Amino acid sequence: MNLRDRPRRLRTDGIRPLVSETSLDASDLIAPVFVDATADERVPIETMPGHERVPVDEAVARVEEIRETGVEAVMLFGIPEAKDEVGSRAWARDGVVQEATRRVTRETDAYVITDVCLCEYTSHGHCGVLEDDAAEDPRLTVKNDETLELLTKTAVSQAEAGADMVAPSSMTDGMVGAIREGLDEAGYSDVPIMSYAAKYESAFYGPFRDAADGAPAFGNRRHYQMDPANAREAMREVRLDVEQGADVLMVKPALPYLDIVRGVREEFDQPVAAYNVSGEYAMLHAAADKGWLNLEEVALESLLSIKRAGADLILTYFAEDVADAL
Ligand code: PBG
Repeated sequence: MNLRDRPRRLRTDGIRPLVSETSLDASDLIAPVFVDATADERVPIETMPGHERVPVDEAVARVEEIRETGVEAVMLFGIPEAKDEVGSRAWARDGVVQEATRRVTRETDAYVITDVCLCEYTSHGHCGVLEDDAAEDPRLTVKNDETLELLTKTAVSQAEAGADMVAPSSMTDGMVGAIREGLDEAGYSDVPIMSYAAKYESAFYGPFRDAADGAPAFGNRRHYQMDPANAREAMREVRLDVEQGADVLMVKPALPYLDIVRGVREEFDQPVAAYNVSGEYAMLHAAADKGWLNLEEVALESLLSIKRAGADLILTYFAEDVADAL
């Protein structure tokens, strides 16, 4: 045996940290928060252990709990008091996200990002204005161009409430450009846009749809979210968002799409975010519950993998736990 190359020399406890190529820090993480206008107390989300829907009155306290772990950025999702055909509570001045944003930005130092979408606010649960015969004809769902104006109003109302950054997630063609223009015209040219640029039509969103009560009443989101089979198309989607002024590029989900995270990292210079979605969280919890996996270890390994693939920031339900463990 004449082995000159022995990679194991660099795996002793003393040197591992020195040669580690990837590190994870609380400052890489964004914690999702669900604010529920219909709740008057915190309601645990069954499919996402450790997470709750909180009333507006509890939003500040919830964000402070997150900040105690070292995580400074939160993504707010809203469950409105009422839904209608167009989702008008999404852009209401006194809407649930607007109220929560106002309080959290005023009373804490958290960095507040708001989700810009209509599915939690529409009675049909789709992410935009419905086509006339959508319920009858499964090939039809939302009207793209008519939806742009509503998304823009939503983003502007969130900026007015104090949002530090807005994150459009509806996969409407042209949404980043429309929102950028709307924000600039309203005097919010300093508010960045984190676009859910490559968002797949994924079964991993299941627990979130329970949590945010945003499942489509009929049909699916295939007409606007991406086909999991496609990678080149993701680059095209991302390029369009970059051309329209996206500041941060998000890939969603994360773990089943690490090739896309890597592809976006290599092709573009903007910061890359990945959304470690509800199903990715729920499945690790379910296995850990059975005693089949060590939750803390698999959570850390998952987030490390997402960073290694090229993500600069990670939106994850593990944010608090992992930040605590670090
Ligand atoms: C809204 C939205 C969804 C998620 C984030 N924003 C649901 C969807 O598109 O169906 C899913 C997040 C998760 O699963 O954690 N458009």
